[in-house]
Amino acid sequence: MKLAIVPTQQEISLDSSDVIISKTDLTGRITYVNRTFMRIANFPESEVLHEQHNIVRHPDMPRGVFKLLWDTLREGREFFGYVKNLTADGHYYWVFANITQDMDANGKVVGYFSVRRKPKPEAVATMQTIYQEMLAVERREGAAKAPLASADLLSGKLKSLGTTYDKFVLSL
Ligand SMILES: Cc1cc2nc3c(=O)[nH]c(=O)nc-3n(C[C@H](O)[C@H](O)[C@H](O)COP(=O)(O)O)c2cc1C
Repeated sequence: MKLAIVPTQQEISLDSSDVIISKTDLTGRITYVNRTFMRIANFPESEVLHEQHNIVRHPDMPRGVFKLLWDTLREGREFFGYVKNLTADGHYYWVFANITQDMDANGKVVGYFSVRRKPKPEAVATMQTIYQEMLAVERREGAAKAPLASADLLSGKLKSLGTTYDKFVLSL
């Protein structure tokens, strides 16, 4: 069950050597976390295993980003993104995440694998501004239309800059 965590304004900064890893099944249910995940997110393994990955979802993250994440994975492509996550105490930490398909010996996709590292502060600042605009659209459109509306805003913005999502986030 997802705990009701009250967000604080305290940031947990990663070291450049920190690599936060988790694995999920095809539905986003956590099947593995490494020690760095447990240390930074401050969750014991027992509280995260078998839970949906939204256990670390921060309310400042637009729904449109997660729509893009799942659409990308279901199309068989890897996802890159800047994510603000919540710790068990309500603090937050920013990561640059790469999520890939986790395959069995026959090449069948059995889940997903995420590797996260400390992001550059300038990249976080850029994405934070975009995420705030996406959140404003989501609030205006209401819950049902929020993910599509803010994902559309993001793709329109990138199109007007003459770039794509992947090129943009990888260039930051
Ligand atoms: C491998 C993998 C790793 C994920 N890691 C995160 C994460 O670190 N933080 C997060 O908020 N969502 C993460 N997600 C996305 C969640 O599954 C979920 O879509 C997101 O938290 C939004 O949840 P909600 O729509 O139920 O609020 C991950 C998904 C996968 C497949």
